[in-house]
Amino acid sequence: MMHISPLLSHHCEALARLDYHISPRPWTQAMFAEELGAQSVALVAQQDRVLLGFAIARDQYASWHVMTLGVDPQQRRQGYGGQLMRALIQGVAKRGGAELELEVRASNGAAIGLYEQLGFKHLGVRPRYYPLGQHGREDAVLMGLALGADTINQ
Ligand SMILES: CC(C)(COP(=O)(O)OP(=O)(O)OC[C@H]1O[C@@H](n2cnc3c(N)ncnc32)[C@H](O)[C@@H]1OP(=O)(O)O)[C@@H](O)C(=O)NCCC(=O)NCCS
Repeated sequence: MMHISPLLSHHCEALARLDYHISPRPWTQAMFAEELGAQSVALVAQQDRVLLGFAIARDQYASWHVMTLGVDPQQRRQGYGGQLMRALIQGVAKRGGAELELEVRASNGAAIGLYEQLGFKHLGVRPRYYPLGQHGREDAVLMGLALGADTINQ
């Protein structure tokens, strides 16, 4: 059974190895370790002690921001990304966050589909926000979800 729990320091090395297979710009062990502080809600998904995914939000400039989300490429389309995001949304709501925002690559249909399914609205576009290949840039879609008192019980 998959279960979701808070990020702990001993997860960080394995998460960096996992992210190498997930993200075009993988996080290092030190970057995951920075999210152990009180400014973040940081969650990992595990099955039989094997890390399958992670979701991290940070209280940044007075608003909550999704910093990273990833699921092992071998374990996708089983609902884990959605479960991680729902747990993250609840964690941020419990911390009193009024809104959760994120940027996502405009070409990332899988993530945009997931965020739309969870109720995130399109707020705008940040042109040429992400590096793409050697020289190019790619737009970011800015999305946001308003959190209410009822979010905690959903
Ligand atoms: C985005 C990501 C976390 C989704 O994880 P997942 O465990 O496969 O997601 P789920 O199984 O919970 O999917 C939930 C919904 O997301 C959408 N979705 C997920 N993968 C999709 C795909 N390949 N194509 C289209 N929609 C997709 C669907 O709406 C899906 O619901 P459905 O299965 O009922 O159709 C995963 O694809 C990933 O790690 N991608 C690389 C990292 C990344 O892009 N992170 C986000 C950065 S902003």
